[in-house]
Amino acid sequence: MSGPPHARTTADSLAAASPAPAVGHSGGSGARIRIVGDLVVKSTDATGAGKLAAEGRWLKWVGAASRPAAIRSRFPVVLGRSEATGSTLFLRRLPGRDARTLALAGPGHATRRLVGSAVRFAFQDLAELDVRQSGWDTGAWCAEHLDDSLERSEGHHPPVRLLRHAERVVVGGLPVANPLSADGGFVRERVRALRAVRTQVIHGDLHLGNMLVHEERDAFYLLDPRGDWGGERTFDPAYDVAKLLHEAHYLCARWGRPSGGAVLNLGELRFPAAAPGTPPVHPALPRLALFNARLAASACRQLDDDPGVAARATLLTGVLLLSVLRFPHTVSYRWETLLAHGLAWLSVGLRATEGRWTLRESWAEWARLNRLVFPYAREAASSYGGDGCVRDPACKALPR
Ligand SMILES: Nc1ncnc2c1ncn2[C@@H]1O[C@H](COP(=O)(O)OP(=O)(O)OP(=O)(O)O)[C@@H](O)[C@H]1O
Ligand SMILES: [Mg+2]
Repeated sequence: MSGPPHARTTADSLAAASPAPAVGHSGGSGARIRIVGDLVVKSTDATGAGKLAAEGRWLKWVGAASRPAAIRSRFPVVLGRSEATGSTLFLRRLPGRDARTLALAGPGHATRRLVGSAVRFAFQDLAELDVRQSGWDTGAWCAEHLDDSLERSEGHHPPVRLLRHAERVVVGGLPVANPLSADGGFVRERVRALRAVRTQVIHGDLHLGNMLVHEERDAFYLLDPRGDWGGERTFDPAYDVAKLLHEAHYLCARWGRPSGGAVLNLGELRFPAAAPGTPPVHPALPRLALFNARLAASACRQLDDDPGVAARATLLTGVLLLSVLRFPHTVSYRWETLLAHGLAWLSVGLRATEGRWTLRESWAEWARLNRLVFPYAREAASSYGGDGCVRDPACKALPR
C-alpha cells in the first residue's frame, strides 16, 4: 500500500472491508467500483490485477508533483493501492457526470463543448508530455493483441473456433464478410504493418464512459487510463481514435442478450435472430455513434501531420471490438455483435489502409458502419429494411 498517511488510514480501513461488494462490473474488463464519499474503490480479481496496476502507475505518473496543474487536475489522484485480496486501487472522487450518460440523454451545448475540449486535451496536451520513451512497434502489439484475444475468447465463446471455416458471419439476418476466414493472415500482417507518423502519450481507453463533465465548474476529467504500455511507452494515437469509434458497437453487445447457438453451414456462421418483438438495445445508440464519429474526426484533424490516422483507426476499431471477446464476462453480452461488427470494421479498415483513405473517405465509411447499430436486435433481414439499411445498396456493400 502506498500513499499519504491520512489516505492510507482511509484506504486501509476500506481495504479491511474488501473485497468491495460486487455492484456488477461497470466497465469493460470487469472491475468493481464502489464510491464512498470522496473515495472511489476500484477492485478486481487476479485476472484484472495487471491492468489495474498499470492504471495506478499511469495516474501516478501523470499526477507527479512536477507536472503542470492544468494536466494533473484532469485525472483522479491515487490515494493508495492494495494487493491484499485481488487488487484494489483507491482514488479521489472527481465531480461531474459521465459523458456517455449525458450523450445518450441528448448532449446539450455545454456537454458537447466540454467533451470536445476533453478530446483536444487527450490528443494535444497529453501528447506534449514528451517525457516517455518512444513507442514500441505498436502495429506488432495490436496484431499480437488480436491473436491472443481470439485464442482466449475460444474458451468461453466456442463458435469463435469456427471462424476460420466461415466466409461470412450472419447476425440477425445481416451477412458480414469474414476477413479472418482461412487463417486471417492477411489481416494480421496489415495490422502488424501499421505505423504512426509519431507515437505519443495516449489515454488508452478514450471513450465517453471514461470522461466526466461538470457543467457548473465548466470542467472535464478523464478516468480509467490504459495508456501504460509497460509503464513508460508512447503509442499510436489511432488507437484512441478507435476507442471513440468502437463505443456504440461495444454497447450494442454489452446491453443485448446472447441469442443462442451458432450454426456453421455452407461457409456461413449463422447466429439465430433475436426473438420477435425484441426492442432495440437503446434507441439513442445511433446518436452516440454519430457523436463519437464527430469526436474521432476532430481528433484526426488535430493529428493532421499524420494523414493515415483515420484509416488506421478504422482497422483498429475492428481489432478492439474483436479483442473484447477475450473477457469471460462477455458470455452474458450479445457477443456475436462484437464479432460481426468487429469483422465489418476490419473489412473496411483493410480497404482504408490499402487505399490510404483520407479522413473524408473514412468519415463516409464510418457513417455507414455506424448504421450497424440501427437495426440491432431486430428479428430478421426483412426488419433491417425498416430503416433502409439492408435495402440501401451502399449498406449491403459495406461488409465486403
Ligand atoms: N475518480 C472517480 N471520480 C468519480 N467517478 C468515478 C471515478 N472513478 C470511477 N468513477 C465512476 O465509475 C465509473 C466506472 O469507472 P472506471 O471507468 O474507472 O471503471 P470501469 O470502466 O468500470 O473499469 P474497467 O473498464 O477498467 O473494468 C465511471 O464512469 C464513473 O462514473
Ligand atoms: Mg471505464
